[in-house]
Amino acid sequence: MKDRIKETEVRAFSDIKAVVGQREALEALRIKYLGRKGEIAELFKGISSVATEDKAEVGRLLNELKVSVTSAIEGSLLSSSNKTLSSKNRIDVTLPGIPARLGKLHPITQTIDRISDIFIGLGFRVVEGPEIETEHYNFEALNIPLEHPSRDAFDTFYLESLGGKNLLRSHTSPVQARFMEKNKPPFSIIVPGKVYRPDATDASHSFMFHQVEGLCVGKEIHFSDLKGCLETFAKEMFGSSTKMRLRPSFFPFTEPSAEVDISCIICGGAAGEKRCSVCGGKGWLEILGAGMVNPKVFEKVGYDPRKLTGFAFGMGVERIAMLKYGINDIRMFYENDERFLRQF
Ligand code: PHE
Repeated sequence: MKDRIKETEVRAFSDIKAVVGQREALEALRIKYLGRKGEIAELFKGISSVATEDKAEVGRLLNELKVSVTSAIEGSLLSSSNKTLSSKNRIDVTLPGIPARLGKLHPITQTIDRISDIFIGLGFRVVEGPEIETEHYNFEALNIPLEHPSRDAFDTFYLESLGGKNLLRSHTSPVQARFMEKNKPPFSIIVPGKVYRPDATDASHSFMFHQVEGLCVGKEIHFSDLKGCLETFAKEMFGSSTKMRLRPSFFPFTEPSAEVDISCIICGGAAGEKRCSVCGGKGWLEILGAGMVNPKVFEKVGYDPRKLTGFAFGMGVERIAMLKYGINDIRMFYENDERFLRQF
């Protein structure tokens, strides 16, 4: 029996070889060997007369024969179809492939990642908070009482359908209070995320934009720590020759507070009379607000302001990205125009 199997295999292969690429002849061979009444089917029938101990092996050999003859015929048919194709339609496997177009991260996401990397290098960790906030966290916990005039500066979308008690956060500062309530100092965190303000849209305003908040709390945290952190950030983000200056300012949740400027990344402050189009000849660009955490904010989250100090800052991500990449219209970020997005 084993000899017959071997003999059939040798014969089938030489038959197939003799007619490579000839469709009809191959079909005839398929019927001859693999058909329902073909030679291999006949061999299968012979299994019943094989000694019991040999049955398993003979069965295996027959199955192998069937598989090898089938693939030999199929392979031979394939080469026939490639032969009959005109040279125009034949597949040229040496042609270069069609490149897959890869997507990439949005420039705002890239900017948030870059900002985060810099602060992570300074020992900060990244946390997030909700975009739907309560008046408590968006205002009261940050020492912005209901009637406080500074509430005007944080014009807010109230969510009427939720009873007017909730709102879309107008800054990322509420996460300061949320984090302090749940964690013990010392810590340094940054909080990237979306914020919302009912501003009319123009080249520099959008009803939604992104901020990165920073908060560092512990014993003996000084204003000089804030300054050092921000200066390192400015140089890493905009280049090592970047200068930084602080101007006195006011935020209810920091005291003292400062507005932070960097030297103009276009003219470096040298434009003078020529009026640089980015800084308007002033030589300085405002990039963020900052200050020492107001003791009243510590009290509201149950921290002892006699034992702890800290600093906080908040920056607009779109503004940073616009300065870094020289973009003059904030709306570009939201239009999803591939010609713009492809450049980053
Ligand atoms: N939350 C302030 C704003 O949106 C920025 C800020 C954050 C200022 C932290 C000081 C400290 O304008």
